[in-house]
Formats: sequence, structure tokens, C-alpha cells
Amino acid sequence: MNNFEYKNPTKIIFGKDTIGKLTNEIPADAKVLMLYGGGSIKKNGVYEQVKTALAKTDLIEFGGIPANPEYAVLMDALKVIKEEKITYLLAVGGGSVIDGTKFLAAAAEYEGAEPWEMLKNKERPTKGMPFGTVLTLPATGSEMNSGLVITREETKEKLAMGGPALFPTFSILDPLVITSIPERQLVNGVTDAFTHVLEQYMTYPAGGLLQDRFAESILQTLIEVGPKVIKDPTDYEAGANFMWSCTMALNGLIQQGVPGDWAIHMMGHELTALFGIDHARTLAVVAPSHYKYNFEAKKEKLAQYAERVWNVTEGSIDDKAYAGIEKTEAFFHQLGIKTKLSEYTDKFEGTAEEIAKRFTDRGWLGLGERQALTPQDAEKIVKMAY
Ligand code: NZQ
Ligand code: ZN
Repeated sequence: MNNFEYKNPTKIIFGKDTIGKLTNEIPADAKVLMLYGGGSIKKNGVYEQVKTALAKTDLIEFGGIPANPEYAVLMDALKVIKEEKITYLLAVGGGSVIDGTKFLAAAAEYEGAEPWEMLKNKERPTKGMPFGTVLTLPATGSEMNSGLVITREETKEKLAMGGPALFPTFSILDPLVITSIPERQLVNGVTDAFTHVLEQYMTYPAGGLLQDRFAESILQTLIEVGPKVIKDPTDYEAGANFMWSCTMALNGLIQQGVPGDWAIHMMGHELTALFGIDHARTLAVVAPSHYKYNFEAKKEKLAQYAERVWNVTEGSIDDKAYAGIEKTEAFFHQLGIKTKLSEYTDKFEGTAEEIAKRFTDRGWLGLGERQALTPQDAEKIVKMAY
């Protein structure tokens, strides 16, 4: 196991009817900007619950952060933060609103002229405006991590960054919010969280016995409750387990002391930037090809996964490893996710070359757990996913 230091400062408030607890979490003297998305919170009662809890707080609102949070919109929010002398941010939404809020927390303290530079330079902010979140969509884990991903339509880019100052102070996780989530987003949530675990697990045996079993247990729980939540979002027990699994999948815990891959996300982000495909679906497109292409390097963990998560007990290491890839793709299909790029766009020709070029231009010459995946490898993987 590798050495590690681990600190996660986010307070989690989990459970039914907990949004009212906001009252106790936001400092009494704060001037708050509440940020939200396209309006789902106004239809499902979350907006009312937040406003009621913060009736005595000095609060203004900024709505309209789109899925795949758009840089230009966030720059409008930054103006409000500066003009109104905001001191505290509150994200009410899914990964996009939370990521946008994190970016604003960093941008509010940024001294340069163009906050996009923070993403280009992969800065790791150590200063940020404090913020809390009310999570409305289990998927990304953003509610308990310090990472963020921002999209810029102007340049068709989607870039990630993170830093110690970008953990939420608190996050409220009320599984009742799940009842209003459309099926497409529930499917995305299960798939994204599932792939987050895979990115931190499907590498090579690294002696992280406990990390492996944490990871396998999250995968097994998602396999158990994912289809139940999709079928019936009012199933509270399934929803609560789904929500906590998504958070645990990417709050840093299972990544400690072990290698991480994350190449699926890097390729997937480009597919969202180029075609606007939902984040989770891009992962389901890339993952099967990625695992087939890197079969030799990953087969021991693939076989362990097949055995422990999918109960594949017959055959050689290679047989089991291959079955692991097939089970994964079948699971995505079972959820209703298409796993080929050509099923999302007919303009896929040239995509692999474009992604390889972008990686080369950015100096991303070695991705994956061994920093050995070259832009040419990425090109071949994306082609396999056509
Ligand atoms: O905008 P509104 O109207 O709120 O509607 C949203 C949006 O259209 C809707 N929704 C959310 N909660 C709802 C609801 N509809 C009904 N009832 C509710 N309770 O769902 C739609 C999608 O929301 P979004 O926030 O975009 O989804 P998600 O949570 O999947 O976030 C995706 C973004 O997170 C990034 C992705 O790249 C993408 O930009 N990621 C962030 C990560 C992180 N910070 O750690 C890691 C991930 O790998 C991912 O890259
Ligand atoms: Zn993801």
C-alpha cells in the first residue's frame, strides 16, 4: 500500500427531512448567494424548503446554471458575488451546480484576470469562499470532494481541477429529493458512481485489501439498489443506499494508498465537450473499450472484480477478466445505457484523432495508473468505442 494523508472536512447531514437543518449550518452574519440549475428545485419543493430554512438569512439567488456548468454563466454569477459583496455560497442542485459553485468559491479569491486560467494550469486553490450544498441528484460525489469540472462552449472544452480549499463545509443529503429525478438522470447517477469506483479499483493489485473490499461493496450495493431506484424512485431504502453509495464512491476514501486510473473520465469529458453527451453515458461508451485495450495490464483486477462482484467462478484469469468486462457492459445495457459512440452521434468520424490531438496539445502524454497511456492509445480506444 502507498503512503497517504487523508482529510475530508465536509460535514454530512444525511436523511429524511433534513433540508431544514440549513438554518444551523450557515453563519448568522453571512451574506449568501444561493445557486441552482434550470429550475427543477422550484417544481419539487426543494426551493421552498431552502427558503423557509433561510428566512432570516441575508440571501440572494442565482439560477440557471446548466448541466455541464458553463463558464460564461458562472462569470455572470461571479459579477453578482463581487457586486453584492457575498461572503458565503450555497449550491442547491446536482454535480453541475455544485461544481459551478466550487469554481466560483475559487474564482472569488482568484487574483488573475481570467479565472479559466486556473483550469488550464490545473491550479490547486488553497483559498476559497466557504460554501455548503444541498444535493438534489446522487451521482458525482461532488458533495463530499474537492474536485470540479467546468465546460466552455466557446472553445468546446471541459476541464477539471480541485484543491484543498474546495471541499464543501457541509452537504445535506436528503434521499427524498430522489423522488422527482427523471429516469435518465437516475440511470446516469448509477453509471457515474459505478465508474468512479472502477477508475479507482481497476488498475493492478497494489496491496490495498481494505480499499478493494470497500470498492467492491460499493459496486455490489449499486448493482443491488440501482435498478430498484430506477424502477421506483419512491423506494426510500433503495434511494438512501443509492445516495450514500454515490457519495462514498468519490469522497476520496477508496482512493487512499492505491493507484487510480481516471483515463475513462479524461476521454469521456472530451465526448461531452464535443457532442454534449451526458457525462455518465460517455463513461459507458469508453469503459468497455478501455478495459479491452488495456486487458494485459488490468486483467488481475478485472478477474478479481468478476469473481467477487459478479460471482464468476469458472475459467482462467483471462476468462474471468473478460467476463468482468462483459458483465460491466451488460449492466450498463440493463440500466438502459448505450455503449457505442455511433449510437449517440453520426458525426463520430475523426473524434479519436481530435481527442488524441487535444491530449497532445495539453501535454497529457501519459494517462492512467502507470502514466503510460499515450494520446495514440487514447485514439485507438476511442475508435474501438465507435
Ligand atoms: O438544472 P435542474 O433544473 O436542476 O435539472 C437538473 C439537470 O437538468 C436535473 N436534476 C437534478 N436534481 C433533480 C433534477 N431533476 C429533478 N429532480 C431533482 N431532484 O438533473 C439534470 C442533470 O443535473 P447535473 O447536475 O448536470 O447532473 P450530475 O449530478 O450528473 O452532474 C454532472 C456534472 O458533474 C461533473 C460532470 O462532468 C458534469 O459536468 N462531474 C463532477 C465530478 C466531481 N465534482 O467530482 C466528478 C464526475 O466524474 C463528473 O465529471
Ligand atoms: Zn464521473
